[in-house]
Amino acid sequence: MTSASAPGKIILFGEHAVVYGRPALAVPVMQVHADVEISDSRRAGIWVDAPDISLHAELSALPPTHPLATTIRNTLRAAGVTNPPSLKIRVTSTIPVASGLGSGAAVSVAIIRALSSLVNHPLSDEEVNVLAYEIEKLHHGTPSGIDNTVITYAKPVYFVRGQPIQTFSVARAFTIVIGDTGRAAPTKESVGDVRKLWEVDKSRWEAVFDKVGKIVLDARKAIESGMWERLGALMDSNHALLQEMTVSSLELDRLVLAAKAAGARGAKLSGGGRGGNMIALVKPEDAEKVASALLSAGARHTIVTTVH
Ligand code: MEV
Repeated sequence: MTSASAPGKIILFGEHAVVYGRPALAVPVMQVHADVEISDSRRAGIWVDAPDISLHAELSALPPTHPLATTIRNTLRAAGVTNPPSLKIRVTSTIPVASGLGSGAAVSVAIIRALSSLVNHPLSDEEVNVLAYEIEKLHHGTPSGIDNTVITYAKPVYFVRGQPIQTFSVARAFTIVIGDTGRAAPTKESVGDVRKLWEVDKSRWEAVFDKVGKIVLDARKAIESGMWERLGALMDSNHALLQEMTVSSLELDRLVLAAKAAGARGAKLSGGGRGGNMIALVKPEDAEKVASALLSAGARHTIVTTVH
């Protein structure tokens, strides 16, 4: 049997504007992960078992553009396997689907790694990332590539679309509380809606994306110089710009306000928005208080994570 796991992720700053070439900062979240186990199958064919999404099917019975089927086929092709053995591929994940935590990219990365090593052709991180990006396109149309990149490399990423991966250093660790609205919101829709706004008035939205880009640069400087306290105000400003892009929601705004009222230094939605997750910057000693305020304000669950 061969297995592989991939973590979830959060976007600290810059979602949506990153699709239009501005930089963004993202970090892995190791507390949640997608796990893949592959073993020989007594039945002929490649059997995919993904209990979280109630999927149990043979590869050829899945629609040709199904993300799991495409991941498997593309990985076998990249590994040069034309006549695959009979296999059982079991996919499980603790990352909520369509929540902004990168569940789709984590599943792709874990399948690509487990399958390529099972067929004795382990792929480099760069190759894994390229394959995972192709699947992101099936999930949400015009992805920037940030999710697959941060999840493949599992380290903090300063990401600019189309440029080689850059990491950043965290001079002083800081604490983030993640709050899940519990509302699944496909990234494809929010990304598509921002594109419609942009198409109608490009100069207005390019100016908004420039403001986001400036926030990202300031945030990177603050993180690299150990001034994480400065990130609070930057998160608040980034959230206001995301509200302007219409990708926040009543639930997200409610959680952002609740976190701030409980002592968070700043808070914002994270990922595609409209639902999914928000993040709050806290002093470590305030993490529990902020997490319980989020639960009282309707969060489905919370994760406390340290960025270092
Ligand atoms: C999704 O995690 C981040 C977005 O910026 C989309 C993308 O970059 O592909 C909303």
